[in-house]
Amino acid sequence: MERYTEPKYRTIYEATEEELEQLRLKSIHSKWKPNFHIHPQYGLINDPNGLAYFNGEYHVFYQWYPFGAMHGMKHWAHAKSKDLVNWERLPVAIVPVEDYESHGAYSGASLEIDGKLYLYYTGNIKYSAEERSANQNLAIMDRDGNITKYENNPLIEGVPSGFTGHVRDPKVFQKGDTYYMMLGAQRTDLTGAIIVYESSNGIDWSFKGELNINLELPDSVYMLECPDYFELDGKDVIVVSPQGLKPDGHDYHNLYNVIYVIGKLNLETLTFDVETYQELDKGFDFYAPQTFTGPNNERFLYAWAGMGEIDYPTDKEDWAHCLSLPRELNLVNGKVLQKPADSLKLLRKGQKVKELMTVEGVKEIDHESSQYELELDFQNKTSSTFGVELFASDTEGLVLQFNKEKQVVSLNREKFDAVFGEEFGIIRSAELEIGDITKVQVIVDRSIAEIFINDGEVVFTTRVFPKSESNGIKIYSDGKLECSFTKYELSE
Ligand code: FRU
Repeated sequence: MERYTEPKYRTIYEATEEELEQLRLKSIHSKWKPNFHIHPQYGLINDPNGLAYFNGEYHVFYQWYPFGAMHGMKHWAHAKSKDLVNWERLPVAIVPVEDYESHGAYSGASLEIDGKLYLYYTGNIKYSAEERSANQNLAIMDRDGNITKYENNPLIEGVPSGFTGHVRDPKVFQKGDTYYMMLGAQRTDLTGAIIVYESSNGIDWSFKGELNINLELPDSVYMLECPDYFELDGKDVIVVSPQGLKPDGHDYHNLYNVIYVIGKLNLETLTFDVETYQELDKGFDFYAPQTFTGPNNERFLYAWAGMGEIDYPTDKEDWAHCLSLPRELNLVNGKVLQKPADSLKLLRKGQKVKELMTVEGVKEIDHESSQYELELDFQNKTSSTFGVELFASDTEGLVLQFNKEKQVVSLNREKFDAVFGEEFGIIRSAELEIGDITKVQVIVDRSIAEIFINDGEVVFTTRVFPKSESNGIKIYSDGKLECSFTKYELSE
């Protein structure tokens, strides 16, 4: 069948140096480019891909469209680091020039096999604006960092019967002598599923079937993207990005959402026995996360700090989005807790400010920078609503609020000149046990805030696009609040 053409389906090899330089220059002075979050120099990035600690270094690949803030021909961009903090941008890792990836090198994951890093990814194929298919492909990175596409790609051609062309985002893992590949998929009745292939060598794959998860997702869920599977503190966990969930109480207010499911995976019977599941992050801009194992067997997570189908204020500068910071996951009392990876402490410049204060009303903290980390311990004696306002000025502010009566924490990003995504609401919220002590850790990097509450029990990942003067911090409370406050400037 003839392939679909549109200008946005071209690769970086078709661009002149001059065109790329123009793109680079366009946003070089952007006040909203993060400093220590992985972000594009130009173009749009989305999902983290192929995450690994390999040969003594961390590798992060991610979806990248070079030619502006839109979703077009996706490449795999690449960066590496020895400490998860200082990153080196590397040449683009996968450029989709082959027939088996004619409309983009879509998301996927990596696995070390025989001393090499196997990068599994989806070759997106489009026949028209609506009709598509998918191939599962392999590229291999050796210990010197050379990346070569496997000569007999695709590994898996097309999609199994019973599913539409929406089959993608391979996650490959090994159990015993067998390799398994989980893929996000759409059944022909247009509902979402996870399917599984198996292999004895990571190269030759056979279709095993659909994973039967006893999770009552509504029929409105039309696709499951980016499935991830791992073991965490003795339990099996699936993290997946369903499309089509509808808002439900405090949950699923973004256009696309992410859930984690705890239970027991049985690869013989292809069943996943669910114990519990819930939304992973409560912020506005969080999608398609992926995890990997660190050198000390830590479980690290990166996510796309962005959301599809929304225009972002940086679109006019021809760049969009960033990744989250790396987080370490742990299972505590049946919940997945997320905390910033320990090595992020390397960002602290040493100018630590510690204060103890009593707040009744509003107290502004002396502060100027737009890259900092904040730890707040609220000792709440008499107040029923209290919290902190970030990116604060006379006219702007991101408001985190704890409501003791309702036992709810909420985040409101209404008060900015550069509004975006407001059609999906301006408040996100979560139930939280609010007792006498509430702990908040915030990392701010110009246009992104990651907010970790009570050691990562509730996390909000949120982009905001403030005016230059909006970098204040205000603590507020309607009763008497003791607040211990620690602030670190973070390095440029
Ligand atoms: C998720 C996703 C994946 C796909 C990729 C394309 O954000 O839609 O399912 O592989 O992005 O960029």
